[in-house]
Amino acid sequence: MQHITDIQPLSAGSYPVFYGSKVAPKLVQLWRPEWRRAALIADLTTERLFGRQLQGALENNGIDVLALSFEPGEQHKTRETKARLEDAMLAAGLDRSSCVVAVGGGIPLDLGGFIAATYMRGIAHVNVATTLLAQVDAAIGGKTAVNTARGKNLLGAFHHPRAVLLDTGALDLLPAVELKNGLAEAIKHAMLADPALFERLEGWAAKRSSDKPPDEIVARCVEIKAEVVAADDRDTGKRHILNFGHTVGHAIEHGTAHQTPHGHAVAIGMVVEARLAARAGWLTETAGLRLEALLNTLGLPTRPPCSFAEAAPGLAHDKKTTAGVIYCAIPTDLGVTEALGDGPGGWSRATSLDQIEKAWEAQA
Ligand code: GLY
Repeated sequence: MQHITDIQPLSAGSYPVFYGSKVAPKLVQLWRPEWRRAALIADLTTERLFGRQLQGALENNGIDVLALSFEPGEQHKTRETKARLEDAMLAAGLDRSSCVVAVGGGIPLDLGGFIAATYMRGIAHVNVATTLLAQVDAAIGGKTAVNTARGKNLLGAFHHPRAVLLDTGALDLLPAVELKNGLAEAIKHAMLADPALFERLEGWAAKRSSDKPPDEIVARCVEIKAEVVAADDRDTGKRHILNFGHTVGHAIEHGTAHQTPHGHAVAIGMVVEARLAARAGWLTETAGLRLEALLNTLGLPTRPPCSFAEAAPGLAHDKKTTAGVIYCAIPTDLGVTEALGDGPGGWSRATSLDQIEKAWEAQA
């Protein structure tokens, strides 16, 4: 596997990110002697597709593995699932010298990381990312969480992994909708921080024969996220830029009872927020139109799938909404984000329900 970069958070040790298809031997090679046992955490799908092979490789090298799995889906990323898996780890006698290996997309990674964050006050974990969305975003940066009935990711911890392995071979098995989810986040990274990556995505999108992006695009997204996490791993300022498209995107997920896939909601959210920004003079209209064109070329939606009235309660519940002010993180040019706003460190803009509604209706 190829080394992309090291993530260097201020609050934790640095850790490497590798990509390629030979994940099992790399995991064995990275395994540290002080990790005496492994808890391999996957959902039922990723356990079958990837977990068993990883378990076999670890066991063949004398590492004892407790394989744990849960039903796939956001509705199972809960305190109850966490408690069940933790109870199994306690019953098996795993102690502080154990290492969690979280395998899959954002859901097993968020859950496995959160278990590692709290088990015996914190143990090591390694992320094996098998979806595009996890590879360009969720696997990197130490955000771990579970959902509650009141919302997504409301309980969690910052707990950085010791290594991240991106299984690019796994993308060949990924349904198109999942690839598109990841592509929306890749476009977000390009919009925020890299005009050359945006142009590269435009060129690739126009000629592509499948929705699986070249490895180099994935690697560049990792580098961009690494830079943001190095500047602000605790999400107190600059990391807020990664929320571009997410304020409106989360509201769309709410307004459609989570029937809109996350990346699709973010795609529409980015277009609505870019339109809002163009109206406010924060971003050129051309940048917003190029964003919309790229999303369209990739078959991602750009029009709200529900009414503003249905989505609006999701804006009030957004974690970034403070004292009624709705904060949106928006690039200041195509591929550039400057700290010109009103939110923490200037990395997000104070907006209102009225501004968002006008942009929404103009896009509807
Ligand atoms: N996915 C947003 C972040 O890692 O901050």
